Amino acid sequence: MRILAIESTCDETGAAVVEGGRGVLSNVVASQVELHAKYRGVVPEIASRAHIENILPVVREACATAGVELRDVDAVAVAHRPGLIGSLLVGVTAAKSLAWASGKPLIGVDHVHAHLYSVMLGDVAKPQAAVPAFPAVGLVCSGGHTALYELRDWLDVRLIGSTIDDAVGEAYDKVAALLGLGYPGGPIVDRLAAKGDPRAVEFPRSLLGKESLDFSFSGLKTAVLYRVYGVPGRGARPSTAGGPPKISEQELADVAASFQAACVDVIVRKLRRAAKVVGARSVIVGGGVSANRGLREAMKGFGLPVLVPGLEYCTDNAAMSGGLAHVYAERGIVSELDLDAVPYSQFVAGV
Ligand code: KG4
Ligand code: ZN
Repeated sequence: MRILAIESTCDETGAAVVEGGRGVLSNVVASQVELHAKYRGVVPEIASRAHIENILPVVREACATAGVELRDVDAVAVAHRPGLIGSLLVGVTAAKSLAWASGKPLIGVDHVHAHLYSVMLGDVAKPQAAVPAFPAVGLVCSGGHTALYELRDWLDVRLIGSTIDDAVGEAYDKVAALLGLGYPGGPIVDRLAAKGDPRAVEFPRSLLGKESLDFSFSGLKTAVLYRVYGVPGRGARPSTAGGPPKISEQELADVAASFQAACVDVIVRKLRRAAKVVGARSVIVGGGVSANRGLREAMKGFGLPVLVPGLEYCTDNAAMSGGLAHVYAERGIVSELDLDAVPYSQFVAGV
């Protein structure tokens, strides 16, 4: 089975053709990074307008690269929840139109579950070999999510913990902004961290008690602010208004490395707790931050099989939705043409 999938939940416009749920024939992503960079974050209205401009060229390119036409695909999939409503509507509308015009079934998938499924994707000529053993513990760590899941199957996914404030990728982006680095901050801080000493600054690790599976990253972000601009009340008024902090290159790298060490430490400890609760036989990590070198390195000694996506499938892409849609289709689950776009605000996670 061959599925054409569409992604437009946030700021990447994506289309992909996936064969048999695992073999990626094409995976096209039109990034909007440059449009949002000057605002140091995603501006929803700009994102939805760019999706409108990009969506059909991206779909055409995905079909051309895969060497298929619409009539050659078996279904049209789309990530219809959760996301920014204006962005979601573009992809959902395009997918419905293509499905209706071609008479192919429409399959709406959950974007967060698709991030977990991304570990299954590989090149069609060189498929990903590993398959997770269930029950598995899943972590989606990205710019919009930091959440833990119990997976008994690809379609039996239960939310067991999530962030109570910032997502970890959001903390990376905000820390990069206050350090005067570029956007998106995750990859930049990751690269800088490799040049610094992770033990240079003892940043706080928010574990929220002994048993919680929730996360909190806002205190860590504030700790970085105070570290580089001074602690309020001690003759300092921490503010980024005067430009980037006046610290040496080495100190900057040390702060980046120490911040990354704190993030990775918390994530690994929470994954250990979650693995125990779930009785996990494997661990699945997906989302933009699963590209992080520090996290990948730290997970090597976890003690359970750990599955991470190929680097091209970590950040938002359509291939992961095309893969997951294959599982839906195999079980006879298809959507109606009145499929809703479900924004973050109406999203009941885990349902
Ligand atoms: O999955 P994604 O494209 O979007 C959401 O669904 O949110 O993730 C984007 C996030 C951004 O916050 C970006 O800074 C972060 O993933 N990111 C990283 C790395 N690469 C991307 N964070 C840490 N280390 C990285 N190497
Ligand atoms: Zn995402």
